[in-house]
Amino acid sequence: MESKEITISRGGLEGIYIAETTLCKIDGANGRLWYRGYPPIEVLAENSNYEEVSYLLLFGKLPNRKELSAFRERLKAERDVPPVVFDIVEEMSGRAHPMDVLRTCISSLSIYDEDPEDKSQQANIRRAIKLIAKTASIVAYMGRYRQGKDYVPPDSSLDHSANFLYMLTGKKPDEMAAKLIDLMFILHAEHGSNASTFSTLVTGSTLADVYAAVTAGGAATLKGPLHGGGADEAALRMMYSIGDPDNTETYIEEALEGGKRRIMGFGHRVYKAYDPRAKIVRKYLELYQERNPSEEVSRLLQIALRAEKLMLEKLSKTKGIWPNIDFFAGPLYRAIDVPAELFTPIFAASRMVGWCAHLFEYWQNNRLFRPLDNYVGEVDKKYVPSTRGSDPLAHTPGTDMGGWVWMHGLRCPGGTATIVVFTLRRYIYFQ
Ligand code: ACO
Repeated sequence: MESKEITISRGGLEGIYIAETTLCKIDGANGRLWYRGYPPIEVLAENSNYEEVSYLLLFGKLPNRKELSAFRERLKAERDVPPVVFDIVEEMSGRAHPMDVLRTCISSLSIYDEDPEDKSQQANIRRAIKLIAKTASIVAYMGRYRQGKDYVPPDSSLDHSANFLYMLTGKKPDEMAAKLIDLMFILHAEHGSNASTFSTLVTGSTLADVYAAVTAGGAATLKGPLHGGGADEAALRMMYSIGDPDNTETYIEEALEGGKRRIMGFGHRVYKAYDPRAKIVRKYLELYQERNPSEEVSRLLQIALRAEKLMLEKLSKTKGIWPNIDFFAGPLYRAIDVPAELFTPIFAASRMVGWCAHLFEYWQNNRLFRPLDNYVGEVDKKYVPSTRGSDPLAHTPGTDMGGWVWMHGLRCPGGTATIVVFTLRRYIYFQ
């Protein structure tokens, strides 16, 4: 064991494969992405819908018409927001980050499980459906509550993503807005062993249940800005700070000067090419703007395109930094009236299916995650119990039975020191 050669990851497990999967293939060098081996993401984004993609991810095959319709009905039946969630949202929203609120709400869903002891695949699919449907409704209600508006009950005539937008805005979306929100749900549904999915697997590998895994793993991990947590929101805020499209180049140059700041919405651990999802978001944003011109979105789009051009000139060849899905997401969400603080919660609602599908796949050959770390500190350092710190007379180092100790300028053996301390304490006590 001692003589074994130690291999340490470059940090962040970069380049390490942690499991085999048939869920998702990412070709980072060429900027391509497939769910379950079906035509590349561009084709699904154009022609599919979130329910079909969710079915594909959960069951490993495309549904036929009957299967899709049954799956849709099961999702619809789970759309209500349970009572405890209203309390959590109301109690936490004023002082907690939206992802903290969402994480707590997702965790609370475990109390509504019909049969927590049932660990069958069928029961887990039932849980996944509950989590996918309810998380979207919870995010919509979180948005309503933050705006001081009332809960909007789900509308069973609408598909999953359109219903989400309806529950958030209170207006039935037109065809184009429904397409855009559905597109965002599809593009965020799955993306390999990113930090939140990996974290879901780590928790799940202990055989904790689905709720625990997607709470501790998915929802908690997605909060961080290096993953999903607000990179799209930060990119949008940057566009607002730039304000006038003519300020774009100066702003970016200054931000990049001396490697000072990162431009959010750029760079990816796996993609060293244009993130295909970002291209799709940009295309649909331009299309939407063409059909529904808005001054605000037009300004944001001009800034985004100028920033993109400069970033590509500066960093794509030298450092492999390209736009990621988060860069154009902000302007697109603004075009359909989604507030910035909900961007990451929407990511979580869409990715819920990916987290669950990965977990179920991993459980088929579960093995507890237990990597090693290479200890580089000292061993056998001297131990002095810290409890002695509370008694000034006993604090003198060396009052254990061995070694030497200095007391009032006299060097005494440790054992002697202990006797002296003990006598002194008795003396003080009886005074
Ligand atoms: N802007 C400017 N420079 C960047 C950026 C950026 N967004 N991202 C990376 N770089 C630079 C780094 O400063 C570093 O430069 P150096 O070699 O001179 O030190 C080099 O590129 C490599 O950076 P790493 O941090 O090693 O790359 P890593 O693979 O770890 O980073 C990450 C990936 C974390 C996504 C990074 O690109 C980043 O912080 N981007 C901004 C945050 C963001 O957009 N996150 C969303 C990711 S997509 C998603 O999770 C859905």
